[in-house]
Amino acid sequence: MTAGESLAGAAERFRTAARELLETAAEMPASLRASMAYALDAPGKRFRPALVWAAGEWLGLSPDTLTPAATAVEMVHTYSLVHDDLPAMDNDDWRRGRATVHRVYGEALAILVGDALVTDAFRVLCRERSFFAAGAVLEAVEALSGAAGPSGMVGGQVWDLHQAPGLSVAELQRLHRAKTGALIRWAVEVPAILTGRTDARAALSAYGAAVGLAFQIADDILDVVGERAVTGKTPGRDAALGKTTYPVLFGIDRARQMARTTLAEAEGQVDGPRGETLRALARYVVDRNH
Ligand code: IPE
Ligand code: IPE
Ligand code: MG
Ligand code: MG
Ligand code: MG
Repeated sequence: MTAGESLAGAAERFRTAARELLETAAEMPASLRASMAYALDAPGKRFRPALVWAAGEWLGLSPDTLTPAATAVEMVHTYSLVHDDLPAMDNDDWRRGRATVHRVYGEALAILVGDALVTDAFRVLCRERSFFAAGAVLEAVEALSGAAGPSGMVGGQVWDLHQAPGLSVAELQRLHRAKTGALIRWAVEVPAILTGRTDARAALSAYGAAVGLAFQIADDILDVVGERAVTGKTPGRDAALGKTTYPVLFGIDRARQMARTTLAEAEGQVDGPRGETLRALARYVVDRNH
């Protein structure tokens, strides 16, 4: 599959799963349902769900068996974006081509939308027990908690928020691997965790680590060269917030070259015809314009 086909398929599957989730949810405040729907409907690229399904394809799994995991990781990612945009964090007005959740629903509800998405994501992930052994599902739950939590995305956000002046490359890489890499790596590894394929997990983990780092380098490049109409978010935020990034340390061209080298390493991890989609998604990371 091409990256475009993989992402389009992931978007369609995720849309169906998210709608079903809100339609079948137990009673909740109408304002929460509306604001959660606003956050989940916004046209994200669905890169992490696409990775879950592409890694599943590499292992020969049918996509339906991975829908709970793919939905859960996008819910956690969406929560991270809603909170990332809050005035106390990056203070962004624009996300996925729309006004940010706190601009439409207010700050308090935006905080609670994030809380609702991350907690509900774990309920959704538990649905994997219809397809896989309970012990393996538990391991996937534990790994997602690790990827999202203090030693994963949340820890990375804190390193990012409280960047020391003159951050070194090693510190920046550590930040990127936690903030963005951890969830991406989980998305790629989860099919191996659920099936107990420890042999395949190492290659997927190496692929995910490389793709995760390159994904954030590309995000930081797009923050400099991207246009709001295409990226769906306000450009120039990193410079305005005084962030150290690969473009700051190395310039755009070298940063892009470093991302390409990292992605070539990722591609090398997943050979064979079943790895075609994973390899295409790796190439997409640096070629994307949004
Ligand atoms: C943006 O992620 C934030 C990062 C972790 C770099 P995406 O670029 O995947 O954003 P969406 O999901 O497509 O909106
Ligand atoms: C945020 O990184 C990564 C998250 C964990 C949400 P950025 O702050 O650079 O993401 P964007 O550019 O706002 O999407
Ligand atoms: Mg941020
Ligand atoms: Mg941000
Ligand atoms: Mg950014």
